[in-house]
Amino acid sequence: MVKLWQGESAQWRMELELNGEGTALSLRMKEGRVLSVCLGGQPTENTLRRAAAKAVKVLRELGADSAVLDAAPAVEALGPEGAAALAQGAELACYRQPSWKEGEDKPFALYLTGAEGLEGALARADAVTRAVCFARDLVNCPANLLTPEDMARRMAQTAGGLGIEVEILDGTRTRELGMGAYHAVADSAVHPPRLIVLRWRGGKKGAPPIALVGKGVCCDTGGYCLKTAAGLKGTRGDMAGGAAVCGALLALAENNIPVNAVAVIPAVENRLSADSFLPGDVIRSMSGKTIQVNNTDAEGRLILADALTYAIRQEGAAKIVDIATLTGACVATLGFTTAGLLTNHEGLFLALMNAAKRAGEQYWRFPDFPEYHKMIESPVADLCNQSSDGCGAITAGLFVGAFAENLPWVHLDIAGTAWVDRPRWEYQTAGATGAGVSTLYELCRGLADGT
Ligand code: BES
Ligand code: ZN
Ligand code: ZN
Repeated sequence: MVKLWQGESAQWRMELELNGEGTALSLRMKEGRVLSVCLGGQPTENTLRRAAAKAVKVLRELGADSAVLDAAPAVEALGPEGAAALAQGAELACYRQPSWKEGEDKPFALYLTGAEGLEGALARADAVTRAVCFARDLVNCPANLLTPEDMARRMAQTAGGLGIEVEILDGTRTRELGMGAYHAVADSAVHPPRLIVLRWRGGKKGAPPIALVGKGVCCDTGGYCLKTAAGLKGTRGDMAGGAAVCGALLALAENNIPVNAVAVIPAVENRLSADSFLPGDVIRSMSGKTIQVNNTDAEGRLILADALTYAIRQEGAAKIVDIATLTGACVATLGFTTAGLLTNHEGLFLALMNAAKRAGEQYWRFPDFPEYHKMIESPVADLCNQSSDGCGAITAGLFVGAFAENLPWVHLDIAGTAWVDRPRWEYQTAGATGAGVSTLYELCRGLADGT
């Protein structure tokens, strides 16, 4: 927990040496209980976040339960955001995933000096940090403890308490709406699906919202194209996109950001049942486009297709960002630190990249040449759900984009960044990362400011 220093006693003192010697982010123990944190190069928000996280992790390993840090050098270099970045790094590094074991972890308190008067900036950053941790909590939850219904209930409870309008559509309603691609997947499971809709109306009355559409597959067995035993182990994290868009809305609401944003989360399970969908099936999406199913494990793009159509036709979205743990191909290409991106709109692309920079997340844009579009054509339907010629991350994204009805659209594939068995950045802990929350929040905040 990060607090402003009020003269409490703390076990350790941390010193921040900006432009210190040596490589970036080294730690040095000094006489007494002093930990010196050296940043090699110019400080950025992200290096401060990483430095605070690393220091706090080391102190916790040493058994410490408190430390005091002078934030003044960070504030001098970067303004209030410098102190906010330190607080955020420390808080995220202290995250512990939900555990069903007995016994509590020792809490850790970091006190900041030199950040007096910056309570507002710290509180705003804290809202984002807690939203990231909310997303981590959901993604860390195993599939037996988080069905689509459970996810809907937990999101509704938290969002509802913050003035976010919540609508949960059950299977009867989504079937009435003609969401055939969504139901092809949803009907493979006994646990019923939920279409979760969260509306934050902080902006001008009647102004069309930005839609944040997040994949909410609570477990992905692959269906009849069954995953291997190793593949099935990672099945719980397949709703990380849904968790990210919910987290972003929570932070927007807590910080009262003047923007209209709607989160749409198709929550389903991709399982096996006697009559679940099969490779070769031809299904009709809500948009009217027909889809040939080549692979039942490519389920994310099917539910996202209908969720995009829902966002456009029922919610009047003006622009769309979809976010999903969509493809193994994206992990193979960009690894665990960088998410894939596709877009049809330069302005929204630039806004997203600016937001990512502020949030300290990495995205890389894939090309969308005409030959990639051809790879998802089908001889018998308008589209097919698996490429005939590789390029899995690109073709999956283009499939989703085919349902954007030419509105500004950005697609984010977080298959690699949403979950880490071992942390890749200091402020991560093993398991869910909360990928996407802060970038989506910053994107919407930027749209509100007109920046
Ligand atoms: N949820 C998976 C993608 C995934 C893989 C996420 C690994 C995280 C880690 C997705 O539904 C999937 O199974 N995609 C297939 C698509 C293929 C069958 C066209 C894939 O990437 O193998
Ligand atoms: Zn799958
Ligand atoms: Zn999946």
